[in-house]
Amino acid sequence: MEKATTYTEELNQLLASYQIHYQNLRSLHWNIKGQGFFELHLKYEELYNRTLVIVDDLAERILSIGETPLSSFSEYLDTSPIAEIELTHDGATGVAYILSAQEELLKQERVLLQVTGDADDEGTNGLMSDLIREKEKTNWMFKAWLNK
Ligand SMILES: [Fe+2]
Repeated sequence: MEKATTYTEELNQLLASYQIHYQNLRSLHWNIKGQGFFELHLKYEELYNRTLVIVDDLAERILSIGETPLSSFSEYLDTSPIAEIELTHDGATGVAYILSAQEELLKQERVLLQVTGDADDEGTNGLMSDLIREKEKTNWMFKAWLNK
């Protein structure tokens, strides 16, 4: 792809969102207390490790289509619709945050699925499709955990 893509901003917004989400997950992992400690401490770790891989895949996808990924935390904070969370020790608050963050990420990914499909950008489209499928599954699990 030679010309500037029209959805670089959306990709960078998604990257920024995952970066803030990553740090939020670390905060949940560190601060969880109570009876759900062992279960959630591990679950948060699994999620932040997965999020790190997604961050790298997204940034390198942006480079692969000839664009520049945002790379500073000040840019991430300016760009991400997902805000930094307050410190919490509560498991239900943490899981509810994850569900809402994943819904925001899904919303962005569905827009990108559409525009990358229209642009015949199969690589980015396939990445979005994988992220959407994965999140739909984990959202079902978080809802089940919250008994929703
Ligand atoms: Fe740890």
